[in-house]
Amino acid sequence: MISYKELGLVNSRDLFAQAIQGGYAIPAYNFNNMEQLQAIIAACVETKSPVILQVSSGARKYANQTLLRFMAQGAVEYAKELGYPIPIVLHLDHGDSFELCKNCIEFGFSSVMIDGSHLPYEENIALTRRVVDYAHQFDVTVEGELGVLAGVEDDVKAEHHTYTQPEEVEDFVKRTGVDSLAISIGTSHGAFKFKPGQKPEIRLDILKEIEKRIPGFPIVLHGSSSVPRDIVEEINRYGGKLKDSIGIPEEQLRKAAGSAVCKINIDSDGRLAMTAAIRKVFVEKPDEFDPRKYLGPARDKLKELYKHKNINVLGSDNKA
Ligand code: G3H
Ligand code: 13P
Ligand code: ZN
Repeated sequence: MISYKELGLVNSRDLFAQAIQGGYAIPAYNFNNMEQLQAIIAACVETKSPVILQVSSGARKYANQTLLRFMAQGAVEYAKELGYPIPIVLHLDHGDSFELCKNCIEFGFSSVMIDGSHLPYEENIALTRRVVDYAHQFDVTVEGELGVLAGVEDDVKAEHHTYTQPEEVEDFVKRTGVDSLAISIGTSHGAFKFKPGQKPEIRLDILKEIEKRIPGFPIVLHGSSSVPRDIVEEINRYGGKLKDSIGIPEEQLRKAAGSAVCKINIDSDGRLAMTAAIRKVFVEKPDEFDPRKYLGPARDKLKELYKHKNINVLGSDNKA
């Protein structure tokens, strides 16, 4: 058993309390490799923002959990080396079983998500409660989820959103003991969140209803990439074929961040930024074959994107 505290990581409890008080949200960025992690840390140090490093099941399979854990541990030292030791949370994204959450907790994660959103209500409560009881013994924070996002999540495909029912949140939060709650209000994973012709809008009215039932309780938004038009155009200019990709407008996320939403998950925008930068190098310098020459620009573009998010969307700059 390794405690995250020995690794210099923090859980999310105080960060969320401060974020709700201050009307901003903590960025939760996924990482699978070194360049992504470097970009996240450099951007958050430069903007003096706390950060949640997210590891998905897919990331564990791709990069190896041991490597990812040591990279997160390294990130704590890297931030110090860059001159500003920001609070860093290491979080399991979309944990799908008690065993996986337990394994991550014993391996140094400071926060886990147990995603029972696809289960019947009572089963979601039972599973979430079990993870909370285990995690809290080690002061690890737990995120639960109520409502189902449209799109593909953990290999489960949902055609339509099942919005979180405000009538359920109080009971869920009370009976599970979770530290934060992910909700479904129209965001979804990936780069195709709305169909062409559809108004890209999230249900801030449902968010308001939920806040009324559990005032001051930390809310999480998954699927919150904005799919920036200029980045998609750059990808397509350099040979990509991303058609009809639409994300969540930034001003809507900014509004949400000003409320009890205190964690905003962003992965796809980072994937797009890296892809655009790499495609550009491949087209402009077809004789280049040193990975540093295309992963380096990808890292730079990613860092700029994260700085922009922290400052202009989440408002987490200068909060570390
Ligand atoms: O919620 C999904 C995240 O974007 C992680 O995606 O499972 O492909 O690593 P992944
Ligand atoms: P995006 O696909 O919108 O970036 O969402 C990421 C996410 O919710 C990770 O859990
Ligand atoms: Zn998610």
